[in-house]
Amino acid sequence: MQVVETVPALRAARAALDGRVGLVTTMGALHAGHLALVEQARAENDAVLVTIFVNPTQFAPHEDLSKYPRDLPRDLAMLEAASVDLVFTPVPQVMYPPGFQTVVEVTEISQGLEGEHRPGHFQGVATVVAKLFNLAQADRAYFGQKDAQQAAVIRTMARDLNFPLEVIICPTVRESDGLAMSSRNVYLTPEQRRAAPVLYRALQAAGKAYADGERRPDSLQQCVLDVLTTEPLAQIEYVSVCDARTLQNSTTTGDMPLLVSMAVKIGLTRLIDNCLLPNELNTRDGLTDLLGGVASIPHI
Ligand code: PAJ
Repeated sequence: MQVVETVPALRAARAALDGRVGLVTTMGALHAGHLALVEQARAENDAVLVTIFVNPTQFAPHEDLSKYPRDLPRDLAMLEAASVDLVFTPVPQVMYPPGFQTVVEVTEISQGLEGEHRPGHFQGVATVVAKLFNLAQADRAYFGQKDAQQAAVIRTMARDLNFPLEVIICPTVRESDGLAMSSRNVYLTPEQRRAAPVLYRALQAAGKAYADGERRPDSLQQCVLDVLTTEPLAQIEYVSVCDARTLQNSTTTGDMPLLVSMAVKIGLTRLIDNCLLPNELNTRDGLTDLLGGVASIPHI
């Protein structure tokens, strides 16, 4: 496994990779959710490139940039064990040298949900991912369902800017009690950690109501709220049930795929989680069709 820190070193190492390249972009503090993306990339490509970069431009001033967990030696050992070929670990000055002034704004799908509660976040994400796509020259890029709107933003950006790669979305990896794996889970105290699986239980309640025939978005949203409000430590930021293709609110009660998503604070830690309905869509292919793709979107 080669580890490079500069743009020229990355370009040279990338040029030496043979065959199809799968890209996994991360902010480090790796866990089994990241490794699932790496394994999928390993299985579908000849070489795997992973980036580790805590991107300052996607954090708001009051957010956790300075205390975001970092452990590069541990991350590299995990990637080595997962048979990764190349790792890019730039410092901020490599990605944003003096005079840097270009941004990528995905105007519509970045609104609402996370975009509404984290202004500027998706501009930071889209800009850094566009740079990483240009640097990696990958054939496929792998993202997690955990950040469903991020996946949709990146898919849209890749399509609109004609990036010649496929965006693959992989299902959320969970702890045994259902809590979605996240680098931020380390912030939780033991008591908060015990409360945190309420997000997953709330998603399951919506899934059960859907399986029982419920299609009204506001009723499905109420199922989620009913479970979340049983947990005194859970401070609800939003709960949304929207059209999974457009991320717009839907008032119809048809059978189109829905995205149930939420942000909940437990103590000072902001947790997000989501699922697609019907439940069978929460697979690599179902997720990629709805939130990823590029190749599947007809070009005119
Ligand atoms: P980060 O939070 O490190 O996540 C890197 C990738 O891992 C993302 O695609 C994310 O959706 C995925 N991921 C995180 N937790 C997961 C889980 N429990 N199951 C499956 N996949 C999971 O997302 C980012 O970094 C950044 O915004 C980035 C795209 C790297 C741009 O800076």
